[in-house]
Amino acid sequence: MQTYRVLLLAGDGIGPEIMAEAKKILDWMNAQGIARFETEEGLVGGAAYDAHGVAISEEDMDKALAADAVLFGAVGGPKWDDVPYDVRPEAGLLRLRKDLGLFANLRPAICYPALADASSLKRELVEGLDILIVRELTGGVYFGQPKEIVTLESGEKRAVDSQLYFEHEVERIARVAFDLARTRRNLVHSSDKKNVMKTGVLWDEVVRRVHAADYADVELQHILADNCAMQLVRQPKQFDVIVTDNLFGDILSDVAAMLTGSLGMLPSASLGAPDEATGKRKALYEPVHGSAPDIAGQGKANPIAMIASLAMMLRYSFDMGDWAEKVEQAIAEALAEGVATADIAREGSRIISTAEMGDLILNKLQALAG
Ligand code: IPM
Ligand code: MG
Repeated sequence: MQTYRVLLLAGDGIGPEIMAEAKKILDWMNAQGIARFETEEGLVGGAAYDAHGVAISEEDMDKALAADAVLFGAVGGPKWDDVPYDVRPEAGLLRLRKDLGLFANLRPAICYPALADASSLKRELVEGLDILIVRELTGGVYFGQPKEIVTLESGEKRAVDSQLYFEHEVERIARVAFDLARTRRNLVHSSDKKNVMKTGVLWDEVVRRVHAADYADVELQHILADNCAMQLVRQPKQFDVIVTDNLFGDILSDVAAMLTGSLGMLPSASLGAPDEATGKRKALYEPVHGSAPDIAGQGKANPIAMIASLAMMLRYSFDMGDWAEKVEQAIAEALAEGVATADIAREGSRIISTAEMGDLILNKLQALAG
């Protein structure tokens, strides 16, 4: 059996608590001989800053580059509000994405039947929801240069962030979206602001070209990003795959998350290009939510997005799609028992802790494994 090296970067706030629940599942799979995961741990975000004065150490970057996959918790918190910009907690995550070349961020929003009433939208609007946001993750305004605050001669300050995209960046993310759509309902909405942005004009041009050349069998729709945000809360089930840039993807995926009942439900996979020799992709898996410092250390955090991220790791990094489905099924069955962490509580549900939710999901998985 092949050994898979997994780097665990729990990060800050609720990161360590939810990571502990994911680790239980990895440990169980090891003990059962289902797979051989070799886990290592590292520091990222505020935790790395406190220990090393940086958002991620070179040593931990090397571990991430050597790993078959990285499981990532969350970073940030008010404790580090005043640290220098270059070493703020988020810089660790951005460096991982950039240096590992993780350009394709997959953010599936699925509404589990038991949670249809936990959504802020009416049950009939979200029941059965299954959409996938494909977010470009290593370009755009997050990384474009110049990115600075300058003091002008007048003494006034001026800030600039640069939104830029190369054709190859748009082309490769478009291909990921079209390929995934073919495994789903075969519909892609490409979202940009071509009515005001040059990057949007190029985005749309490249997506259309790739579509016409290689994916004419997939239905392609264009949607302006502001309209997309509105349609997501008006009629979310009209979407299948949404492909969009780094910044719009950040915003639209938070909207989509809330449709599923809670931000605590949304997993994500960040993938690089397949290696030419081995076909393997660098990959990082993380919940879409943040470090929730207000509830950290209290056993209140919802571990489901973290555990569902682990399921994505099984599917996309280790070709264990059957086990990914079992983990997702275990989550659905746990929720169907009427239990909930506080964020997904609905009428009549029994509130349980982070660890209790993790244990229940593991129990369900054990039962499914037979
Ligand atoms: C996300 C987060 C990050 C982002 C932050 C923590 C830098 O909001 O993964 O959606 O903006 O990409
Ligand atoms: Mg975000």
